Amino acid sequence: MKHLLSTQDLSAEDAIRILDTAEEMAAVNEREVKKLPALRGRTVVNLFFEDSTRTRISFEAAAKRLSADVINFAAKGSSVSKGESLKDTAQTLAAIGADAVVIRHWASGAPHRLAATDWIDAAVINAGDGTHEHPTQALLDSFTMRRHWARLHGTDSQGTDLSGMRVAVVGDVLHSRVARSNVWLLQTLGADVTLVAPPTLLPIGVEHWPCKVSYNLDETLEAGVDSMMMLRVQGERMNASFFPSTREYSRRWGFDDTRLRALDELGLKDTIIMHPGPMNRGLEISSAAADSPRSTVLDQVRNGVSVRMAALYLLLSGDTREAVPATTQSKESN
Ligand code: NCD
Repeated sequence: MKHLLSTQDLSAEDAIRILDTAEEMAAVNEREVKKLPALRGRTVVNLFFEDSTRTRISFEAAAKRLSADVINFAAKGSSVSKGESLKDTAQTLAAIGADAVVIRHWASGAPHRLAATDWIDAAVINAGDGTHEHPTQALLDSFTMRRHWARLHGTDSQGTDLSGMRVAVVGDVLHSRVARSNVWLLQTLGADVTLVAPPTLLPIGVEHWPCKVSYNLDETLEAGVDSMMMLRVQGERMNASFFPSTREYSRRWGFDDTRLRALDELGLKDTIIMHPGPMNRGLEISSAAADSPRSTVLDQVRNGVSVRMAALYLLLSGDTREAVPATTQSKESN
């Protein structure tokens, strides 16, 4: 694996390798000294053309815990705002000696472009491209679900998948790269996925995705669900009105206090409530739900660092291992 661009082309074997490696990294993150020398001397550039809190600091923490040098580049305040192209930016990063580029871009496909051209020969990690994909978010979500699933079944999470887990992905699927990456990965890992959204917030062609579709959140709850993944309503990507009012939205599609109580009434005592953040409290999720013991919001953030450490390690450490014998050989031949 040279790049991590999407979960659609990720095999079950590779996905489980990343999740298992992330378990090892999680053990490091529980130590007092949270640092490994694995990527000493390697340079990771965080290239962010779109706003981010969690993803950017998570990648920064992950790279630093592996002892890499980290360069943070935000498009605002850089020459990109003077109109510099992705090509020129990439060539500049190549000249600086970047080994990995973590890119978030408003244009769907930008990370693929970077990986496919010869502008730069670095490992490319997609940290969210437009409405397309966000693979490390889906991996950290699966990591969080796998731990929960293993705990429930009294098994070890390492080496296992999500077979039989019922996951509902709820809300603004249309604009969500998190939903797309999750649908592909969850299906690869054997989970049973239902998208729940108003028809206006579902993409064209959703009937060909490997999941069920429902317009009714209460029916989905009544049918039984192990994980509720609430999506943010992405106001910044909406150029029209996709639902009648915010009140109507939260009444029909939001995880509100009534639905939180319904989980208990339905006997769904182990169902978790997930959200990738940032949350619109009171819209797609109520504060009581976000702060309840069922909520995994902060676990997701915590697990994100371990998953990103695993991704960086697997993409970059392979090269280091190859480089060592090559140097030894040239010394010997001298
Ligand atoms: C998501 C994103 O940026 O795609 N957030 C994140 O990475 N934690 C989801 C969102 O913005 O709603």
